Amino acid sequence: MKLTINNHSYTVDVDPAMPLLWVLRDVLHLTGTKFGCGMAQCGACTVHLNGEAVRSCVTPVKRAEGQKVITIEGIGQQHLHPLQQAWAAMDVPQCGYCQSGQIMSAAVLLRENPHPTDEDIDAAMSGNICRCGTYPRIRQAIHHAAQLQNKGGVQ
Ligand code: FES
Ligand code: FES
Repeated sequence: MKLTINNHSYTVDVDPAMPLLWVLRDVLHLTGTKFGCGMAQCGACTVHLNGEAVRSCVTPVKRAEGQKVITIEGIGQQHLHPLQQAWAAMDVPQCGYCQSGQIMSAAVLLRENPHPTDEDIDAAMSGNICRCGTYPRIRQAIHHAAQLQNKGGVQ
């Protein structure tokens, strides 16, 4: 099966029903995407499939065949993404476990809504759980990233 991940081509010999998350982590060793609940409940495994945020723990790899997958490793390959800049500026992560999923969800939000309100952020991020409770800093950082993006800092 041919996969395109972070603009690189990979050929993998796996069961088409295998969750994309397992292929990413166990086969391709792209371990930035995390395993949390395995049941589409926590958002830790969020990646982009053709620009949409999907839960890779419940996405069969077959769905990604020939499609464009972006993981946290693929965000900001050329320049730091405004979200990465904002995350660093606001010192967002605590344990960090949920954070790649948070950033992947936030990236879709900022692409679709460059001026999100607190309510927009809460709605867009509601599927990403943080056991450390970093939600206030996440919200602040998304606002900051929106400002950076609107100043032309986005790729
Ligand atoms: S591990 Fe996929 S949503 Fe929790
Ligand atoms: S920073 Fe620890 S789970 Fe979110």
